Amino acid sequence: MFQRHRRLRSSAAMRNMIRENQLRVEDFIYPLFVVEGEGVKEEISSMPGVYHYSLDLLREEIEEVVSLGIQSVMMFGVPEHKDEVGSEAYNDNGIVQQAIRKVKEWAPQLVVIADTCLCQYTDHGHCGVICDGEVDNDPSLELLVKTAVSQAKAGADVIAPSNMMDGFVAAIRQGLDEAGFSQIPVMSYAVKYASAFYGPFREAAHSTPQFGDRKTYQMDPANKREALREAASDVEEGADFLMVKPAMAYMDIISLVRDNFNLPVVAYNVSGEYAMIKAAALNGWIDERAVTLEMLTGFKRAGADLILTYFSKDAARWLKEQ
Ligand code: PBG
Repeated sequence: MFQRHRRLRSSAAMRNMIRENQLRVEDFIYPLFVVEGEGVKEEISSMPGVYHYSLDLLREEIEEVVSLGIQSVMMFGVPEHKDEVGSEAYNDNGIVQQAIRKVKEWAPQLVVIADTCLCQYTDHGHCGVICDGEVDNDPSLELLVKTAVSQAKAGADVIAPSNMMDGFVAAIRQGLDEAGFSQIPVMSYAVKYASAFYGPFREAAHSTPQFGDRKTYQMDPANKREALREAASDVEEGADFLMVKPAMAYMDIISLVRDNFNLPVVAYNVSGEYAMIKAAALNGWIDERAVTLEMLTGFKRAGADLILTYFSKDAARWLKEQ
C-alpha cells in the first residue's frame, strides 16, 4: 500500500481547489522614494523599474498604483539637506511630509505608511544620533518621536519605525497618543537584521553609513531566538503589526513570528532580493514572473499577512492576467 498524492494534482481545477495559500493584491505594500526638486523621474540603477520621483511627477505613479488595486504604499523621503541630527526628518515641511499630504489629497483611500528612521536624513548615515562615535539610543528616541508625530500630522495612516533603537515602539506610541494620534497604528520593523541585502536601497535612499556599520542596532543574521525577544518587546510596547526584514533568506523567522504572536505579520522583500531577480531575468536566466509569484506565495505560506515589495505593481498586473 502507498499513498497516491498525485490524485489531487490531476488537473488545474483540482489543484485550484486544494490550494492552501493565495496571493491577493490587498497583500501588497508598494515602496515609493520621493525627492526634492522638479521634473525628477530617475530610475535607481540597481533596481530596474523603481524610480526617484519629485512631487510634480509622483501623481502619475500614485494613479497607476491605485488603478492596479494596490491599497497601500510605504513612503521614503530622500532629502537634499542632511545634518548630524537628521533635522529634515521632523521638518513639518520636509520632503516626505509634503509627499504624504499630496498623496492623501490625490488618493484619500490609499493607506499611506511612513517609514520612520533617521538614516536618510543624517550626514553620517546612521539611524540615530552619534555620541562619542556610537549611535546613542535614548537621545535618538526623542528625534524619532518628533519624526513620527510630524508624519502623522502630515496625514500618514500608519507609522513604520525601522530604526532598531531599543524602546522605539513605546516612545513613538506615547508620542503619538500625546499628540492626539491614538488611532494611528505602529507597524514595527520588529525583527530587522543587519543584512547585505539592503545594498540597492542604500543607493536609492542615499543612506549608506559613512563610518562603521549597523551591527550594534540591527540583528545578527545568525540569530533566531533573539527574534522572539525583539518581537515580544515590541508587542508589549504596543506595536500593531510586526515586520520581519529581509524576507527571502528569513522564511524561518517569518514562520516563527507567525506561530508565536497574534499580530499581523509583514514580510519586507528587500531591495537586494528584488535586484537579484531583476538581474537574472534581464539576462534571460530565469522566468521573472514565475519566480516572483513563487517567492511571494512562499512568504504567505511562511505566515506573512502582508508583503512589502518592489514587485507590487508587477505582481498586481500578473494576478489580474491570471
Ligand atoms: C532604513 C531602512 C533600510 C531599509 C528600509 N528602511 C535600510 C537600512 O536599514 O540600511 C532597507 C530596505 C531595502 O533594502 O529594500 N533604516
